[in-house]
Amino acid sequence: MIKEIPSESLNPDSFITEHVNDIRKKVVEGTVINALSGGVDSSVVTLLGHRALGARLRTVFIQNGLMREGEPQKVASFFKERGVNVEIIYAEDAFLEALKGITDPEEKREAITQTFYKEVFGRIVRESKARFLLQGTILTDVDETIAGIKRQHNVFEQLGIDPQEAFGYGIIEPLIQLRKDGVRKVGKALGLTEEYYNRIPFPGPALAARIIGEVTRDRLEIVRKATSITENMLSDTGAFQYMAILHEDRVTGMRNGKRDFGNQVEIRCWDSVDARTATPTNLPYETLTALAGEILEQVPGVVSVTYNIAPKPPSTIEAV
Ligand code: XMP
Repeated sequence: MIKEIPSESLNPDSFITEHVNDIRKKVVEGTVINALSGGVDSSVVTLLGHRALGARLRTVFIQNGLMREGEPQKVASFFKERGVNVEIIYAEDAFLEALKGITDPEEKREAITQTFYKEVFGRIVRESKARFLLQGTILTDVDETIAGIKRQHNVFEQLGIDPQEAFGYGIIEPLIQLRKDGVRKVGKALGLTEEYYNRIPFPGPALAARIIGEVTRDRLEIVRKATSITENMLSDTGAFQYMAILHEDRVTGMRNGKRDFGNQVEIRCWDSVDARTATPTNLPYETLTALAGEILEQVPGVVSVTYNIAPKPPSTIEAV
């Protein structure tokens, strides 16, 4: 049982000192690999690991083809300015191949997990002879996996999977006692800019968690464009998280006076503190219609835009 550190009782500076020491103790020698995705959790873990290990921390950004527009370059240059060198590893084909033909949400998550940890990471770890992977698993990931709600792609030990046996390396998870609000506090204390520590959460399976049905290059393009528009237009709402989801069903629409059997995009925007429960943000109607207008105009093939009004539970934040 993992002991939670609630955000209210968290002292970020002593948390940092304790975990820097703990990482140094665990990693007596050699390199540790760190997977940075640009999300809040992995950004915080990167700075923590860098403080503990300096150049012994090798930070990689896996370009799995499921990322947001311009994300790898943006994240790499942000961390470079802070003295952390980020290697971008191009692995799009491996992920798309593994996702081919899969429509079931849990199978999709499992395909991403296996490709990430076994294939892509396994190779990097073997080549570098690292013994550990540093990653930003948080308590909410563990809770939801154990409860059987969703298999978060980064949870192993709590499911009885020994990463050492399964993948050939150990995993260090310094943020496992925290929830998102606690992680943000630690990020701020580590000197992360507000843009990063207050960044809206983004799931490990990335845009694949925003596509209902098969993940293909074309469908990724649609959801990537809709995500970019949604994030730009809702960024000053102060909401906890917002996203665009591509549905599997097609609906009849019309364009230029002709029938257009097209795609449906669902917008979700959430108020939440720690992602355990969430309610749809009461967005002004003008905001919603402006957002729909932009998506219909800019994303080819979309004829329907809806807004989710169901809270979590029984909904979940992501659709997959
Ligand atoms: P759900 O959809 O379970 O999401 O209500 C709760 C929070 O977790 C994020 N999320 C994930 N984060 N790996 C992650 O690192 C995952 O597999 C994953 N699935 C969901 C989600 O964006 C929300 O903030």
